[in-house]
Amino acid sequence: MKIGILGTGSYLPEKVLTNDDLAKMVDTNDEWIRTRTGIIERRIVAEDEATSDLAYKAAKSAIEDAGINKDEIELIIVATMTPDHVTPSTAAIVQDRLGIRAAAFDLSAACTGFVYAYTTGYSFIRAGIYKKVLVIGAEAMTRTIDWEDRGTCILFGDGAGAVVLGETDSGGFIASNLVADGSGACELMIPSGGSRKPVSIETIKNKEIYMQMNGREIFKFAVKVFPETVENVLEQGNITADDVDLFIPHQANIRIIESIAKRFKQSMDKFYVNLQKYGNTSAATIPIAIDEANKEGRLKKGDKLVAVGFGGGLTYGSVLFEWSK
Ligand code: UT7
Repeated sequence: MKIGILGTGSYLPEKVLTNDDLAKMVDTNDEWIRTRTGIIERRIVAEDEATSDLAYKAAKSAIEDAGINKDEIELIIVATMTPDHVTPSTAAIVQDRLGIRAAAFDLSAACTGFVYAYTTGYSFIRAGIYKKVLVIGAEAMTRTIDWEDRGTCILFGDGAGAVVLGETDSGGFIASNLVADGSGACELMIPSGGSRKPVSIETIKNKEIYMQMNGREIFKFAVKVFPETVENVLEQGNITADDVDLFIPHQANIRIIESIAKRFKQSMDKFYVNLQKYGNTSAATIPIAIDEANKEGRLKKGDKLVAVGFGGGLTYGSVLFEWSK
C-alpha cells in the first residue's frame, strides 16, 4: 500500500512584524537580520488568537484540498511547542472545532515536530489502525518570546500548516529518520511553566517563562546533523541528492540552508525557502512550505522530496517521499 499526502493547507496570521519594527524595540537593524538570517518579516498572532486557531484554519484548508469529507479523518496529530494549554491538547481543541469524531493528540518535538508527526501518522495508516490522518504543525512562537532578547525575538514567527495523509495510487512515503539527543536540552528551552519549575513570581522576574536559546550552538548543531539525517534517508531510499527534486528544509536561517546546498553540491533552486516572509515558525515551517510549493504548482507527480527538521530537544530528522497528487 502506498501512503501519501492527499491535501495540504496553511494559515498565517494577518499581522506583519518587519525588521524595522523590531529595530524600534531592541538594539538591532534590518541589515543585520537580513544578512545573518535571511528574514525580512514575520507574522504575529492577534491578541485573541492561539495555536489552535491557526491549526484549525490550516486543517480546514488541507481537508478541502484533499477533496475528502472531514468525517473521514480518524486521527489528528498537532506538532507544537506552543500549545494553547498544558492540558487539554491543542489537537483535541481542533477536533472539536472541526466537529468530527477522531482520536487526537499533540506531539512535542519542537522544530522537528512535523517530521516526527508525519512519520507517526504514516505508521498508524501502515499498521492498519486508521485510514486517514490529519497532521498539523502549528505554533504561536511569539507568545514565548522575550521581546528584549535580540538573539531570539528577530527569528521567530507564528503560523500553521497541515496535510491529510492516506492511501494513494503511487508514490508517497519512502523513508524516515528520527533522532533525539537530550544532552543538548539546555540549548533551547523554556525553563519555567512545566513540572520542573512551575511559574512563580521569581521565574517571571528571571524571565524563565520565555524561550532561551544558544543560537551559536544550535547553528553548529544544525550544520552538523542536517547532512547526517539527509544521507540516512537517501541511503534508505537508494537514491542520491541529485535525484531529489526539492528539499524542504526547516526555515531557521538562510545561512544554514546555503551551507547544506553547498555540502550536497546542489543549487539553491532545489531548496524551498520562505523564511524571508515568515521567519522560523518551528513545527509549522515544513507543512507551510509543502502547502506553498503545492499551491504554486512547484510539485509534480513523481517528484522526490526530502523534508528536514532540527531544533529543540535537541531533535532532528528527515522524511523522504514522492509527490503523489
Ligand atoms: O529552529 C531551530 C532553532 N534555532 C535556530 O536554528 C537558530 C540557529 N542560530 C542562528 O540562526 C544564529 O546563531 C543567530 C541568528 C541566532 C545569531 O547569529 P550569529 O551569526 O550566530 O550571531 P552571534 O550570536 O554569533 O553574534 C554575532 C554578533 C555579536 O556581537 P559581537 O559579540 O560580535 O560584538 C552579537 O551580540 O552579533 C550580535 N548580535 C546582534 N546584532 C544585531 C546578536 N544578535 C543581534 C541582533 N542584531 N539581533
